[in-house]
Amino acid sequence: MVKPDGVQRGLVGEIIGRFEKRGYKLVGLKMCAPGQQHLEQHYEDLKEKSFFPGLIKYMNSGPVVGMVWEGLDAVKTGRSILGATNPLQSAPGTIRGDFALAVGRNVCHGSDTVENAQKEINLWFGKEGVTKWAHHSDAWVH
Ligand code: PPS
Repeated sequence: MVKPDGVQRGLVGEIIGRFEKRGYKLVGLKMCAPGQQHLEQHYEDLKEKSFFPGLIKYMNSGPVVGMVWEGLDAVKTGRSILGATNPLQSAPGTIRGDFALAVGRNVCHGSDTVENAQKEINLWFGKEGVTKWAHHSDAWVH
């Protein structure tokens, strides 16, 4: 997900491009302004953390862009494309390592396990789900 600061800074295309160029398939894409309740549900595991209210306020400060990427080891490699959660520890060449400085403005979110990815896809994409490419593959040159 591109967080509100990433959207406001015009980084949506850059972030999508990095996943596309690496070889991942885009199977879900959605811009939305989720609201407090939805965000609290997304981050419910963190509700006891001292930074929780600030995190929700930041995430509620503008629209976000959710996306679902499919491909080999997408969760693990996807998080390495994002870089370490704290941008001060993110390597150059990662999204956060190139575009962020503060953990409270770290531009993007990535699911940390396949199980959580499934939960987050259900929460953000709901009934509409994601798009399957398989039945189009014969017509595809790549
Ligand atoms: S923890 O404490 O280890 O569970 O936290 P961590 O795994 O590092 O981060 C979990 C998510 O909380 C965000 N986070 C913060 N937001 C705002 N302020 C502060 N201080 C802060 N610390 C952590 C962090 O970006 C993670 O969110 P996502 O959306 O996964 O990046």
